[in-house]
Amino acid sequence: MKKIAVLTSGGDAPGMNAAIRAVVRGAIYNHVEVCGIIRGYKGMIDGDIRPLKSHDVSNIIQKGGTILKSARSEEFRTKRGREKAYKNLKENGIEGIVAIGGNGTFTGAEIFLKEFGVPTVGVPGTIDNDLYGTDYTIGFDTAVNTALDAIDKIRDTADSHDRVFFVEVMGRDSGYIAVQTGIGGGAELVMVPENPDSIERVIQTLSTGRDRSKFSSIVVVAEGEELGDAHYLSVKAKEMLPNMDIRMTTLGHVQRGGAPSAIDRILGSRLGLAAVEGLLEGKHNVMAGIINDKVNYCSFHDSINKKKPLNHELIRMVNILSI
Ligand code: F6P
Repeated sequence: MKKIAVLTSGGDAPGMNAAIRAVVRGAIYNHVEVCGIIRGYKGMIDGDIRPLKSHDVSNIIQKGGTILKSARSEEFRTKRGREKAYKNLKENGIEGIVAIGGNGTFTGAEIFLKEFGVPTVGVPGTIDNDLYGTDYTIGFDTAVNTALDAIDKIRDTADSHDRVFFVEVMGRDSGYIAVQTGIGGGAELVMVPENPDSIERVIQTLSTGRDRSKFSSIVVVAEGEELGDAHYLSVKAKEMLPNMDIRMTTLGHVQRGGAPSAIDRILGSRLGLAAVEGLLEGKHNVMAGIINDKVNYCSFHDSINKKKPLNHELIRMVNILSI
């Protein structure tokens, strides 16, 4: 392989730049030319493909976002869009791809590879930590720390005013961010899609807390929670607990930005390099992940289709430690 390309696609995640840097430097170290595709699959279709040299990735390891920009491309879902993308890769002499992103990115990569046979290795870059085949995804640790910082601040004001706060965190269909944030932030309750909840349980937890002289409480709600979002839950709780002062906050995209934590910089570097090395060794249709601190290659098929289980022991722990 003489020339490869790297792209970031889907929701950005802190640590993606560390992964890009590792791909570029890993390729150059192995005497392989490398290009960056701007705005993920959209840039592949538009032909926005630029050569990257070692100095192009200097001074980016500490930066949030992605220097290659990201997008969710509707056109890449069509056969015509993918044909255009393939034509552009051919014209640029690109023989392999490193795709940094999440579920949607790998779904696109798998279809593209089946149709046109361009070898692709994935790097798990999403704050959601919802990909099977890796213990952690790039950006998750930073997002949890950002959410924790916000919760610490919310707790100050909740405590001053004897209030209950419902705090909604990201995670799409996964409760990973919510559970870690809930534990680290000392939440009274964590509500995640992986664990069935009832409004009665919420009311009971808040009432029992008040009976035990707990005047402020934090309930962390994953955005995918099946009972409803933090707004809905706070309205319901107000109806059922009229004597409590209840507020809600949605943390939103603040969780996607900011300088990557040490963990995400290191994870991005390891997985970026592992992806290039995997590609050059002839691996394709796989995602490079980390399991028990060792690099692990998992098929796109499994990483997309298998559900990464949440550790229910952690939810049990929140319930015990919040009494
Ligand atoms: O996948 C990352 C993520 O931030 C999810 O947690 C969230 O559901 C989604 O992306 C938001 O997507 P967008 O930035 O397109 O609104």
